[in-house]
Amino acid sequence: MVVLIVGGTGGIGRALISIFQKQGHDVHATYHIQPATTDAGMYWYPCDATDERSVERLAASVGHIDLLINCIGILHTDLQLPEKSIQQFNVDFFQKNIQTNTLPTLLLAKHFQSRLKAPHPTYFICLSAKVGSIEDNHLGGWISYRASKAALNMCIKTIAIEWKTKLPKCCVIAFHPGTVDTPLSVPFQKRISKQQLNSPDWLAEKLNQLIDELGPEKTGRFYNYAGEILPW
Ligand SMILES: NC(=O)c1ccc[n+]([C@@H]2O[C@H](COP(=O)([O-])OP(=O)(O)OC[C@H]3O[C@@H](n4cnc5c(N)ncnc54)[C@H](OP(=O)(O)O)[C@@H]3O)[C@@H](O)[C@H]2O)c1
Repeated sequence: MVVLIVGGTGGIGRALISIFQKQGHDVHATYHIQPATTDAGMYWYPCDATDERSVERLAASVGHIDLLINCIGILHTDLQLPEKSIQQFNVDFFQKNIQTNTLPTLLLAKHFQSRLKAPHPTYFICLSAKVGSIEDNHLGGWISYRASKAALNMCIKTIAIEWKTKLPKCCVIAFHPGTVDTPLSVPFQKRISKQQLNSPDWLAEKLNQLIDELGPEKTGRFYNYAGEILPW
């Protein structure tokens, strides 16, 4: 397969690159701020996935894609952790969450639609989070991150419906990785047990197993790392 990992320098992105390279796939990946070291047998592209021209340039540089995984996202910045209450709500932080967690999937879908069209199964997979499920929200808090992932989920469901006719072989899903040991989860790792913290390599293997079971008939779903369907 020709694979494109958007956000290839992140914890989960790097582990996915490694597993797909070992399987002999043709792996392409993007970096944002920090250029990645060049690996033999793969292709790196600079991309700010919140900038439409940057995504357009990426699509023009890459040919047909069988599997696109959007691994980019933020949960916290140097200045702010996710909100514990509405009194901590900050406009800039909210907009940063929407910009990084929601917008890139729309730009990628717009500019990679023609790249994912094929007579055989293709896959458009976006890293979401269970806290973006409206039905599953029992705890509250983290309002900007939750809202950005809920919006992402709506985008994915809507794209999946549109592509059922335009790209009938493409499977579009949202994927919840659980808590994975990456820079994104570091401030929150103390609160959970070791058993609840998954390694990026373990997670990459789980997603790889799920992809083996996916097909166009499963488009428009929200899956977790165990292959279970989550409520939107
Ligand atoms: N880790 C977890 O426990 C967990 C749990 C639930 C969901 N998720 C989701 O899984 C995904 C991957 O997370 P991760 O744990 O691998 O996080 P990570 O290690 O912090 O990686 C995030 C990646 O996003 C990239 N990125 C941020 N802004 C970008 C932009 N404007 N353009 C292009 N790339 C950009 C970062 O690159 P730069 O650093 O160069 O900006 C980095 O490579 C995220 O969507 C996250 O919400 C993770």
